[in-house]
Amino acid sequence: MEKKNIDWENIGFGYMETDKRYVANYKDGKWDGGALIDDANITMNECAGVLQYAQTIFEGLKAYTTEDGRIVTFRPDLNAARMADSAKRLEMPVFPEERFVEAVVETVKANAAYVPPYGSGATLYIRPYMFGMNPVIGVKPADEYQFRVFTTPVGPYFKGGAKPITICVSDFDRAAPHGTGHIKAGLNYAMSLHAIVTAHANGFDENMYLDSATRTKVEETGGANFIFVTKDNKIVTPHSETILPSITRRSIMYVAEHYLGLEVEERDVYFDEVKDFAECGLCGTAAVISPVGKVVDHGEEICFPSGMEKMGPVTQKLYETLTGIQMGRIKAPEDWIKVIG
Ligand code: PLP
Ligand code: COI
Repeated sequence: MEKKNIDWENIGFGYMETDKRYVANYKDGKWDGGALIDDANITMNECAGVLQYAQTIFEGLKAYTTEDGRIVTFRPDLNAARMADSAKRLEMPVFPEERFVEAVVETVKANAAYVPPYGSGATLYIRPYMFGMNPVIGVKPADEYQFRVFTTPVGPYFKGGAKPITICVSDFDRAAPHGTGHIKAGLNYAMSLHAIVTAHANGFDENMYLDSATRTKVEETGGANFIFVTKDNKIVTPHSETILPSITRRSIMYVAEHYLGLEVEERDVYFDEVKDFAECGLCGTAAVISPVGKVVDHGEEICFPSGMEKMGPVTQKLYETLTGIQMGRIKAPEDWIKVIG
């Protein structure tokens, strides 16, 4: 298969239309057989549930070209399970988890010419999503839904790539106790837009959200979980019912413990202790592991000893091991890699 003529090394994290996308429709209480289609546009009623009351959920994962030239994805079964959780929380029908994985595989296969080559630094981002389609005017769940998967080649989420970023403690809250912070619903991102625009306008790359109940504990950013490294090389990540259970973060914690022999802790992380950590990183499908060099809390700066030039040594090891597993340079734990072709 011939690859598309794309400047892989220089693409950013943006949308580029690819050839095929997967669509399945839910009507009269059941899903149809689904199909790959050409049209990237969607026509729907003006009163569709998604347009009026934001009944939409999504997932994000990537396809990689491995060192030996195969195309693989990373733990798509966990995305399927998380999407099922998101669907239940928003009163949407679950798209069967095995079918989710099949749809991802089919869509990537159909767009194989867009999977960036090994070593290019780019990957194929895969976006499964589902939304309420039929007219809904009283506040209630839709009866008809569409599940879709599209793909788009992407480069690094943060412009500098592996260069440490500066983040600020947000004055806005991302998720309420007992709310929807733990699911991947569009509404969580809609309400973060003002916060991210404000952070950018103030010269910051991202927001650090604190828990909205007490504003004393670290939660996550708008699109990634936190990992911290203590001065004695322990990996610490916030435990919270109101953050998204990142697949990347769960994988990093496993890799830290089982591949690198590091001690790991998932627990409450108080903002007051952030100044004592040696390294800080953001982790997620889009972010991979992005080092944080500085956290600014209303003018007060916390500068991690790892500095603003490069990743800290432990973050670097985690990054190399995780991406090594994803790109086939390091043997993966069983069932982490789904080979597509
Ligand atoms: N937290 C939020 C709010 C996200 O949007 C994402 C992205 O998916 C993550 C964390 C990272 O999750 P994952 O590693 O599963 O991509
Ligand atoms: C991801 O990492 O897949 C995300 O969804 C983060 C962001 C692009 C919303």
